[in-house]
Amino acid sequence: MSASTPVLQIKGLTRHYGGVKALTDANFELLPGEHAAIVGDNGAGKSTFVRLLTGVEQPGAGVIELDGHAVHFNSPLDAREHGMETVYQTLALAEDLDVPANIFLGREITRFNLGLLSVLNHAAMRRQSTEMLATTGVKIQDMSASLRGMSGGQRQCVAIARAAGFAKKLIILDEPTAALGVQETARVEDIIKGLKQRGVPLIIISHNLRQVFDLVDRIWVFRQGRIICNRRTADTTPQEIVGLITGAIDPASLPQAEESLC
Ligand SMILES: Nc1ncnc2c1ncn2[C@@H]1O[C@H](COP(=O)(O)OP(=O)(O)OP(=O)(O)O)[C@@H](O)[C@H]1O
Ligand SMILES: [Mg+2]
Repeated sequence: MSASTPVLQIKGLTRHYGGVKALTDANFELLPGEHAAIVGDNGAGKSTFVRLLTGVEQPGAGVIELDGHAVHFNSPLDAREHGMETVYQTLALAEDLDVPANIFLGREITRFNLGLLSVLNHAAMRRQSTEMLATTGVKIQDMSASLRGMSGGQRQCVAIARAAGFAKKLIILDEPTAALGVQETARVEDIIKGLKQRGVPLIIISHNLRQVFDLVDRIWVFRQGRIICNRRTADTTPQEIVGLITGAIDPASLPQAEESLC
């Protein structure tokens, strides 16, 4: 593997639901340390792409490579075990559990483990959860209360703290701030900048172009179930991206800089 081998390379990813062509022949790459945004109108295929990439659903066709090796994820857990953490658009948290239990869901810390007999280390999980949440700035009064009584923004921060804390290879955020207020959005953006500094590659799906231009190196445009173009943020403008999203600009009409090929 060379320094320029993409962390993630996707070729020909396709998924049709009956007559609905949710995603067709999608090609995508993410370089080491790179932060990328996925943009596109409602129904353009963005969440489908994430679900196929992270083992929630199986593609009809296509190849996914991590660090140059083809992978096949049978489940989201499988993807997590490969170091890929995802915050889905529809949150996957356990409402009846408290914050530490949600953060450590599926990777609980035990004090000892004798085959069938294992004892959870609640104190360690609570301490680490508090540290992880501190990075989001979200205030949760009672860590032992279940998520059921929390706001959408608080739940979102729990999910993002969990993903940011565990991501080893790659983190994917599907519209992480869509339900958040101004302050929480700023906090999440700070977390994303921290991941950039740590060199953790990231994919963010967002309808917020201000956010996209503030945060990422490269923008991938989805339109009607296809990836039509990718542009280096430094080489494009919000107006151009809007034109690509809506179809007002034909990607073939853009100057083709070597690094931002459409
Ligand atoms: N399970 C499914 N069964 C049938 N059609 C589906 C299914 N999931 C997605 N679709 C369809 O596939 C298309 C792409 O949906 P997707 O959720 O990927 O869009 P999106 O780009 O994430 O949109 P948004 O910005 O609204 O989240 C849509 O037309 C959607 O109705
Ligand atoms: Mg979506």
